[in-house]
Amino acid sequence: MPAFTASAPGKIILFGEHAVVYRRPAIAVPVEQVAAKAIVNAELRGAPGSVKLLAPDIGMEAQLSELPASNPIAAAVLNAAGVLGISRIPACTVKVTSTIPVAGGLGSGAAVSVAILRAFSAYLGHPLSDEQVCQLAYEVEKIHHGTPSGIDNTVITYARPVYFVKDRPIELLHPRQPFTLVIGDTGIQSPTVKAVSDVRKAWQQHQDEYEALFDSTGAIVDSARTAIESGMTELLGPLMDANHGLLRKMGVSCPELDTLVQVARNAGALGAKLSGGGRGGNMIALVTAKNAERVAAALQRAGAVRIIITQVRG
Ligand code: PMV
Repeated sequence: MPAFTASAPGKIILFGEHAVVYRRPAIAVPVEQVAAKAIVNAELRGAPGSVKLLAPDIGMEAQLSELPASNPIAAAVLNAAGVLGISRIPACTVKVTSTIPVAGGLGSGAAVSVAILRAFSAYLGHPLSDEQVCQLAYEVEKIHHGTPSGIDNTVITYARPVYFVKDRPIELLHPRQPFTLVIGDTGIQSPTVKAVSDVRKAWQQHQDEYEALFDSTGAIVDSARTAIESGMTELLGPLMDANHGLLRKMGVSCPELDTLVQVARNAGALGAKLSGGGRGGNMIALVTAKNAERVAAALQRAGAVRIIITQVRG
């Protein structure tokens, strides 16, 4: 029997993180340079129900039955079997690998879920639709995040730029012109759940102030959408700077992110901001084809532990 394989890209949030949890729009794009991969192999001599889960990157080797349902890898497998109504899973090994850094705002959790859901449902003989994959990956995101907006599982399932509003039908974005981003990693692992819960506490205490920050973010996202769709990508730089300013006010930046953002601007980036949950993880800078390498080198000198140069296209 052949192996069943699926992979899913990483992602970055271009505009609107955190405010998106409060039903403002956000824009996210896939990052194909990093990916999660799931491979399912049948174990022809294994007893039904015997499902071995391997995730060598995190040193995991376990039977599905030994893991709590709150384990995200187990949850993805169980969700696929559950929605397909399969209780006796034919014996197999599910192996997951990923080049997406964990807890860095690049969507590693959602990508692992999407890859598993696709490979495992194909192994069971019923490949899930994109809609089902997106919904089930969202259920797993709740384990990671608590109250996720759903943007990660959406952009990663569809592997296309998205304009996203929680609980609204997904809207794919079609950039008129491709544009280039440099992604710089602070190397600080920062669980999104903590940043999201701190923003919630602050919002509860200063509701008017935070609602205004979220509204301003939403307006930036809408301007960015227009710029992307009309090919006026140079307008995105100042919008990124403005969005970073709002994220700082929300309390989700940190000195390392602020430094990399400033270094990128000084090296000629058209704009820069943190991306994702913040407090660490990654920042992004809008660059031209000409100055991408210069900005990347400056970020590296300033301490970025990993650089990705990626193009956003339709
Ligand atoms: O998964 P991350 O770190 O890219 O962050 C997700 C973005 C947030 O808006 C902070 C949370 C969410 O659920 O949308």
